[in-house]
This record gives sequence, structure tokens and C-alpha cells, in this order.
Amino acid sequence: MTDFSRVFERKRTHSLKWDHLNTIFQTDDLLPMWVADMDFQAPEVVNQAIKQRADHGFYGYTIINNELMYKVTDWLKETHQFKTNIDSLIFSPGVIPSINSAINVFTNPGDKILIQTPVYTPFFNLIKENDREIIEQELVHKNNRYEIDFKDFERKIKSGIKAFILCSPHNPVGRVWREDELKKMAEICLAHDVLIFSDEIHADLAFKEHKHIPIASLSEEISQQTITFMSPTKTFNLAGLQISYIIAENTKMRTKLANELNRQGMNMMNTIGVIALEAVYPQGRPWLNHLLEVISENKNYVKERLEKETSLKVIDSEGTYLLWIDCESLGFSPEELNEFFVKTAKVGLNRGSSYGKLGNQFMRMNIACPKEIIIEGTNRIINAINKK
Ligand SMILES: Cc1ncc(COP(=O)(O)O)c(C=O)c1O
Repeated sequence: MTDFSRVFERKRTHSLKWDHLNTIFQTDDLLPMWVADMDFQAPEVVNQAIKQRADHGFYGYTIINNELMYKVTDWLKETHQFKTNIDSLIFSPGVIPSINSAINVFTNPGDKILIQTPVYTPFFNLIKENDREIIEQELVHKNNRYEIDFKDFERKIKSGIKAFILCSPHNPVGRVWREDELKKMAEICLAHDVLIFSDEIHADLAFKEHKHIPIASLSEEISQQTITFMSPTKTFNLAGLQISYIIAENTKMRTKLANELNRQGMNMMNTIGVIALEAVYPQGRPWLNHLLEVISENKNYVKERLEKETSLKVIDSEGTYLLWIDCESLGFSPEELNEFFVKTAKVGLNRGSSYGKLGNQFMRMNIACPKEIIIEGTNRIINAINKK
């Protein structure tokens, strides 16, 4: 059984989160609560399966058999009531390389791609670096939560958008989009022939009062215009094993995308990633249920203390293990805000400004860690603000 309260030494393990602090923060004297990687051991079933594979000792070219594909479609059906066929699946080493391929296959240089900001930093780079144009649809921050301005969404979609990258659940604002919101977005995209690239990597991480709904599961018509990107890596803390999958029910689109991934040599899977996927679907579910309770508790703890003991506001997230903290009351510039967290509070959070200009007064905190780290990080922030 994974002990979610145990603090492990993760330094000197090639960990981006723990071993790369000097490069990211120009100091290593801080508590890392940034990149989306959890300070919890993966489910025991994963560790056992990897050990067994290591005993076998073969790590040659690896492909995914039908049995494992059925495990994936069963997981989607049981977890998200998303009924899909194994023929609709494509496997790839990651969501970001997959979206990158989709952009290259289905859009042309100069095309406009819509994103809902503030949003996951690599979306900006994926569009910019491929010489496409970023069209930002700003989410509305109201009453400490985020909503979509549908008039604005429709106006932007009508302006010649080729594809929309949906982040669902949304990183960093923590929204688990409701069915009516997803339907409206999809209807507008369908009406204007806009492709939907739906990044649902956080799908399994919705808190129990909120239900994640894959946008492609809403109707046959929507699924024909959508490519969904999912992975077990956020859910089960397996990011280093590089495995993800794509659901593309439109045969023509799926073939084109699969050909592109093959062309790039991305059709071979990481052996250990495959072993881990096989181990967690569905045997990782008790671990996931426990994880969601821990994250939900951590969220309530941080939110309650920061809001009671400081002027900060914490967005009440509906899913993900990333907290979006409104620091406007501190009155800092984005640069000063980051410096304050790094140098004074000595906690390594993601700077909000990297999610677009609407994030300028925010910081993103990773709360997937044992309570001891949560308490320490929260204390450091509160003490720094109270000394200010
Ligand atoms: C919204 C979103 N998409 C994609 C990724 C990364 O996916 P991958 O590691 O499979 O490329 C992350 C990681 O945090 C994420 O938050």
C-alpha cells in the first residue's frame, strides 16, 4: 500500500522537480512545489510489474496488443462513460508530442489556433514554434472562479480559427467543464468547422463532486471533429515513463495522425511505460481514489489557511492537483512576485505569468505531496507575507 503521508528523499534521482532547481529558480534553497509531478510513490502494482519485467530482462521494441487496448477502452468506459473502440486508439510517448503532430497534420503555417487563457504554458509554444497564430480567448475570472464568455468564444471561433486546443479539466484554473459548457463549445466549433484538439490528461483527477466528461463522448458528430489526448501519466505519477494515447474516431483523421507519428518514429512505445499502463488499468483505481481524497484535503487545507491568514485568494479547483493562487493583493509585478516566492518564502511555485498575461498576478502550486510538505510550504508562504 502506498503511504501518502511518507516524505521520500527525491534529490539525486534525475528528478526535474527536485534536481533542476538551480536552473529554474537560480537557487536550490527552496521547497519545490512546481511542475506537475507528485511526491507520492506510484501504485504498488506498477512497482511490482516493473520488477517482474526487470527479472525477465528484455527491453526490445515494444508494441501494444489488443488485450491492453481493451484495458484502455474499458478504463474509459468505466471511468468516464466514454464508449470507444480499440480501432480508434493511437499510442504515443506523450500528449505534447501528439498535439504537436496534430497541429502539423491538420493545420498550416499561418493558421489561427484558439486557446483559453490563462493556460498550460506549452500550448503557447506549440502554436508559436509551428508558425501558427495564437488566438487567446480569455477566461473570465469572477467570484474566485473561471467561466467562459460564450459570446466572445463564438466571435473568436468565427474569425477563421482552424483548431481549438481545449484543456479539460483545465490547467491551471482547475475547472472541470460541465456538460452544458462542453456542448456549447462543441456546437460552436462544429458550426464553424473548427477542429477540437482536446487535452484531457487531467481527466481522472476530477474531485468527486465534479464529473469529467470527454467532449468527444457527447455525440457522434462531435467525436468526428475531435481528437482526444489522454494518458495514465498524470493520474498515476508516471510522467518519466512516457506513454499516452489518442482517441480519434474519425477514420481519415486517425489515419493521417497515425501516419505522421509513424513518420517521426513515435510508434514504438517505452517498454516500461507499457508495463505500467498494463498494471494500472484498472488495478490502480483504489490508489487513485485514495489520491483524490488526499489532494482534496490538501486543497482545503491550503485554501483555508492562506485565505484566513493572508490576503491571498485560492481558486476553488474542481480537479487536478494544481492550485491557482490569486496574489493580486500583494501588489507585486510578475517579476517581483516570483522573486518574493523564491527568495523570501523559499517555495518553488510556477510563475503565473508563464500561463499568459492573465496569470501575471498568480502563482501555481502543486499540492500532490505529503501533508508534511503541504504544511511546510503553506507556513513558508504565510510567514513571508506576514513579514512583508
Ligand atoms: C494540460 C497538460 N497537457 C499535457 C501535459 C504533459 O503531457 P506529456 O508529458 O504527456 O507530454 C501536462 C503536464 O502537466 C498538462 O498539464
